[in-house]
Amino acid sequence: MTHAEDDPVPATAKERRDFLYYATASTGAVAVGAAVWPLIDSMNPSADVTASGTVRVDLSGVEPGQRITVKWRGRPVFVWRRSVAAIEAARAVELDDLVDTVDSARENPNLSGDVPARDENRTADEAGEWLIVIGVCTHLGCIPLGQDGSAVGEFGGWFCPCHGSHYDTSGRIRKGPAPRNLDIPPYDLGDDLQLVIGT
Ligand code: FES
Repeated sequence: MTHAEDDPVPATAKERRDFLYYATASTGAVAVGAAVWPLIDSMNPSADVTASGTVRVDLSGVEPGQRITVKWRGRPVFVWRRSVAAIEAARAVELDDLVDTVDSARENPNLSGDVPARDENRTADEAGEWLIVIGVCTHLGCIPLGQDGSAVGEFGGWFCPCHGSHYDTSGRIRKGPAPRNLDIPPYDLGDDLQLVIGT
């Protein structure tokens, strides 16, 4: 298990790290982060990382509305089992209201090409319950706040305190200097809720 002092998360994010962070060892050992958020401190799942950098996480214990963070190749991946309200808010947004209206296969390797940045194209499941994004601001790389459910910004997703970027409940940039929506990692999420990142 690694701790705040040996990972690359900026100090601003460390100060707010009141959420579960799955820190994984580079040798492939199983590691579990410290849970300090009351809603998730009983969950205690594990994250396995392979030598190739693929991370496997059991999401079956994640409650509706809960957000967890998984470390993948040195970066935080935000996993959010969204509430109905968060799903509806994301899906009600018109493309014309977005800053970044297109998600490419480079930004979301699960796609085969460019698609409109609709919430339906960004979630792991058709119903939109699972949103999985890379937690790195697309402006200058800070880690946005919001994983603890506070400081979610004006659009209910995440807020980057470095220069004031606001992301919505689909991880799309809605206000501030960030030019692009939060990227999405390559992943596979099976019906058994076993998430594999880096496939
Ligand atoms: S790094 Fe996030 S707003 Fe600048």
